[in-house]
Amino acid sequence: MRSHYCGDINLGHNGETVTLCGWVHRRRDHGGVIFLDLRDREGIAQVVIDPDTEEAFALADKARSEYVLKVTGRVRPRPEGTVNPNMPTGEIEVLGKEVEILNDAQTPPFQLDGYTDVGEDVRLRYRYMDLRRPEMQEKLIMRSKATRMVRNYLEERGFLDIETPVLTRATPEGARDYLVPSRVHQGSFYALPQSPQLFKQLLMVSGFDRYYQIVKCFRDEDLRAERQPEFTQIDIETSFMNEEDVMATTEEMVTRMFNELLSVDLGAFPHMTFAEAMQKYGSDKPDLRIPLELEDIDDLVASVDFKVFNGPANDPKGRVAALKLPQGATKLTRKQIDDYGKYVGNYGAKGLAWVKVNELAKGVEGLQSPILKFLGEDVALNIMARLEAKDGDIIFFGADSASVVNDAMGALRCKLGADLDLYTKAWAPLWVVDFPMFEENGQGGLTALHHPFTAPTCTPEELEANPETALSRAYDMVINGYEVGGGSVRIHKQDMQEAVFRVLNIDEEEQREKFGFLLDALKFGAPPHGGLAFGLDRLVMLLCGTDNIREVIAFPKTQSAACQMTQAPSPVDPQQLHDLNIRIRRDAASATSH
Ligand code: AMO
Ligand code: AMP
Repeated sequence: MRSHYCGDINLGHNGETVTLCGWVHRRRDHGGVIFLDLRDREGIAQVVIDPDTEEAFALADKARSEYVLKVTGRVRPRPEGTVNPNMPTGEIEVLGKEVEILNDAQTPPFQLDGYTDVGEDVRLRYRYMDLRRPEMQEKLIMRSKATRMVRNYLEERGFLDIETPVLTRATPEGARDYLVPSRVHQGSFYALPQSPQLFKQLLMVSGFDRYYQIVKCFRDEDLRAERQPEFTQIDIETSFMNEEDVMATTEEMVTRMFNELLSVDLGAFPHMTFAEAMQKYGSDKPDLRIPLELEDIDDLVASVDFKVFNGPANDPKGRVAALKLPQGATKLTRKQIDDYGKYVGNYGAKGLAWVKVNELAKGVEGLQSPILKFLGEDVALNIMARLEAKDGDIIFFGADSASVVNDAMGALRCKLGADLDLYTKAWAPLWVVDFPMFEENGQGGLTALHHPFTAPTCTPEELEANPETALSRAYDMVINGYEVGGGSVRIHKQDMQEAVFRVLNIDEEEQREKFGFLLDALKFGAPPHGGLAFGLDRLVMLLCGTDNIREVIAFPKTQSAACQMTQAPSPVDPQQLHDLNIRIRRDAASATSH
C-alpha cells in the first residue's frame, strides 16, 4: 500500500509523489487548511490538505486521533519559517491529494504524547496503544537491532543456534520453578527452564562446540525493576575454551553492540575479584561510575565502649564499614540524613551512624555526630585519618553482620551516587571474577553461589575439605551496577560433579534421581567446556537508557507477575482441572482471584 515510511521522507524526495500509511498523531485546522501529523513506526510526517482537493479535504476533516489513513501526495519543502529542526522530517511536508480512511478509532485511553501522567497500569492494560508511542517503538527497534547484531556476531564465529526444550525438569538457578501439570502423567509436572544450563552442557558432550540461543527463561522469584518472571537470555556455551577465551569473546560482542548501536566505546573491561568488590563496594555488581568506596574500620572500633560497633567488630562474620561522602556535610540536610537512615533500614540495617566534619583543625571539637561520645577522641580522630576526611565531609557508618553491612552500605553508595549525581563517567563495565563456590544458606548448609555445575579452581578432595573457602571459575559481566551476564567454566568430570553435590548435601539417591542424565553424560567423553548467559532485557535496558526492564519488553508482567492486558494468570475451566486430576483448595482459589 505504502511507497515510503512517514519518518523516511526528506528533502531528497522533493517533488515526488508518495503514498503513506499510518495513524493520525495530531490534526489541526489552520484557516481552512488541515494539517495531519501522520505517524508510523519510523516517524511522523506532516500532511497538508487544501480545501480545493475537495474529496480529500472532506475525509481529512473526519479524521480524528489514531484513525488509520492512507494518504497520497507530493513532497514539498515547508514554507520558510515553518521548518521544524526538532523533527527528522521537519524540512518537508506532503501536500495530500488523496485520502483514504482505512479505519476509524475511538478516543484513545490516553494521549499518546501526554502519557507521562497516566499510570503504568493503564499503559500496560492498553499496551498495544502504549507501544504506538515513538519512544516505545524506538526501544523495541533497538532490541531488534541488538539481537540481530548478536546473531551476526556469533554466527560469524561459528556458533550454532540450537533450541532446547521449554517443557523440562527443574534446572537449579536458585529461583522457584514455574510448573506445568502433565495430563498424560497425572501427578507429574514439567518445570519451565530457569535457563537451558544442562541442555547446553549436554550439547557440548554431543560435540556442537559453539552453541548459542536467544531464549526465554522462567523464574518465579521476587520481582524488581530489573527482573521479570519470564525474560530472555543470550545463552552461550563453548567447548575447549577457558575463562579468558569466553570473557574475551563475549566482551568483544558487548563492546561491538555499544559501539554499533550507541557509538559508545566501552574500552577494555577491568577485572575485579569478588572479594575486592564486596570490600570496596559492598556488592558483587559494583557501579563503578560512582567514586565512593567503603572503608573497613573494624580494627579501630574493636574496643570502643559502643556495643553497636564493638559487637560486629569482634565478630568474624561482622563488619564495621565507613563511607565518606566528600562535602556531604554541606550538601545534606538533617532530614536527608535521617531519610538515608530509613533507606538503609530497607536492607536490614538497624541504624546509620554519621560524623560531620566541620573543622578538623579543632580536633574532636570540630566533629559533629550522635556517636562521638561513644567513640572517644582518639578513635574518632583515627577514623578521620584513615578516611582522609576533609572539612565539609560527612562519613556514614554501618555495623552489623557483613552481609547486612554490604547490602545496606552498598545500596547507600548507589543511592548517594544517584541522588547527588556523583557519576564520573557514563559507562563503567567490568568483570567480577574469583567468586566463592558456595555461600551459607542460613540453615546451616551451603548453596552454590553460581550454580552447582560451575567448576572450582581446586581438586575434588580440596573442595570437600574446605568448601567455604573454595573459589569457582565463574565470571559476571557488570555494567553500571547491573549484572548483565554471568557464566563459568563447567565441571566436565563425574567425580568433581559428585563432590559438589555432596558438599551441597545432595545424597547419591537424589543425585541419580535429579541429575542422573548429567552424571551419565560426564562419563561418555565430556569435553572441557564453559559459557555464559546475558540478560538480553538488561542489556537493552542499558542501551535504551532506562532503569525499568518493562520498558524494553513488548508485553511485560507487573511486579506481581500478572499481565494487565490478558489478565493472566487466570482461573481455568473446571474440566481442564479435572482432566489434569487437579483440585484447587478453596482458600487458595479465593486468595488468588483477580
Ligand atoms: P544467571 O542466573 O546469572 O546465569 O542468569 C544470566 C543472566 O540473566 C539475567 N537474568 C534476568 N533478567 C531478567 N529477569 C530475571 N528474573 C533474570 N534473572 C537473570 C541476568 C543474568 O546475568 N545458566 C546460567 C548462565 C551460565 O552459567 O552460562 C544462568 O542462567 O542478566
Ligand atoms: P543508638 O544508640 O541506637 O541511638 O544509636 C546511635 C547512633 O548509631 C544512631 O545514629 C544510629 O542511627 C546509629 N546506629 C545504630 N545501629 C547502627 C548500626 N547497626 N550501624 C550503624 N549505625 C547504627
